[in-house]
Amino acid sequence: MRITKRLLSFFLVLSVSFSCIGCEPSKTNASTEKPIVLGFSQLGDESTWRSQNSLSIINAAQEAGIKIMFDDAMQNPENQIKAIRSFIAYKVDVIAFSPLVETGWDTVLGEAKAAGIPVIIVDRMIDTEDDSLYTCALCSDFDLEGRRAGEFLMKKFRNTDGPVRIVELSGTEDSTPAIGRYEGFRSVLSSDPKFEVIFSASGDFMRSKGRELMQQILTHYEAEKIDVLYSHNDDMTFGAIEVMLEAGIIPGKDIVIISVDATQRIIDYLREGSVNCVIECNPNSGPQVMEIAKRIVAGEKVAKQIYIEEQVFDEYSDLSSIADRGY
Ligand code: AHR
Repeated sequence: MRITKRLLSFFLVLSVSFSCIGCEPSKTNASTEKPIVLGFSQLGDESTWRSQNSLSIINAAQEAGIKIMFDDAMQNPENQIKAIRSFIAYKVDVIAFSPLVETGWDTVLGEAKAAGIPVIIVDRMIDTEDDSLYTCALCSDFDLEGRRAGEFLMKKFRNTDGPVRIVELSGTEDSTPAIGRYEGFRSVLSSDPKFEVIFSASGDFMRSKGRELMQQILTHYEAEKIDVLYSHNDDMTFGAIEVMLEAGIIPGKDIVIISVDATQRIIDYLREGSVNCVIECNPNSGPQVMEIAKRIVAGEKVAKQIYIEEQVFDEYSDLSSIADRGY
C-alpha cells in the first residue's frame, strides 16, 4: 500500500512534468536545448508546512520548464537514499533533497558525485565532513528561529521575577530544525536563570503527537505551573491547543504560546490572542531551487549556503498588515 502510494506520487509528477517538453528555449538547458531534469526527494508529508513546500517545488518546476521527478520518502531516510539512487540511475541533471535527519548521507551523495550529478540541499541541512558532496544548501536558519523565540520570551517576561516554566514540543530527533530551534532558544534564555524548561520531548512535527504530548504534560504538571508552551511547529501547536481547550485552559492567556511555521490558521489564532508569537519558517523555496538548478546546469558559480528570508509575527506586531499566507 505504502509502496504503491510512493510510486504513484513519483510517476504522477513525472508524467505531469514531462508535459513540459517543448517549453520555450530560454527556459531550457542552454547547452543541449533540452529541459533540465531535476530529481527531488521530499522527506514526507508530515505537516501543513511540508505540503506547501512540496507544492512550491512542483509548481516552480513547471513554471521554470524543468522536468521534475518527485519522490515522497514518507519519513524514512532509507526511501530517500533509494530515490537518490534512482535519480542517479536515470542520469538526471541535478538532484535536490530535503533530508529528514542530518546524518547518513555521505555514501549516497558520494555516488552522486562520482556520477557527476550536482546536489542541492533544501530546507534542512546534512552533517558531513566533506562539503564537496553538495553544490549548494538552501535552508532556513533554524538557530535564528530558536533565538527569535527566546527573544520574544525575554521581552514578554521582562517585568516578571520568575520562575518562567516552559514546556517544549520539539521536532524530529536529529533533524536540523529540531536541533536549531532547541539550541538557539536556549542560547538566548541561558543568560537569565528565571527561565526553566521543565519538559521537552519530540512530537515529530505531527499534530497527533502534539496532542499526545500535551496530554502527557497535563498529567504530570498542574496547568498553573506551566507558563509557556514552545512548539517547534504549528501542527503540534494545533494538537496541544485542542487538549488545552478540553482541559479548560485558555491558550495564549493561561499559557503563553510560541509556535513556528506561520500557517494561515496560526496567524488567525495570533490575531484572536490564542497564540502570542509566531516564528516564520518559509516553505516557498521552489522558485529559488529552480533558479539555483538552472545556474548550476549553466556552469555558473552559486553560493555554498543560502538562507531563506523569514520574519516574526507576535502580539507586539501590527497584525493588520500580514498578507494572506495561502496555506
Ligand atoms: O524543516 C522544516 C520543518 O519541517 C517545519 O517547521 C515543519 O512544519 C516541518 O515538518
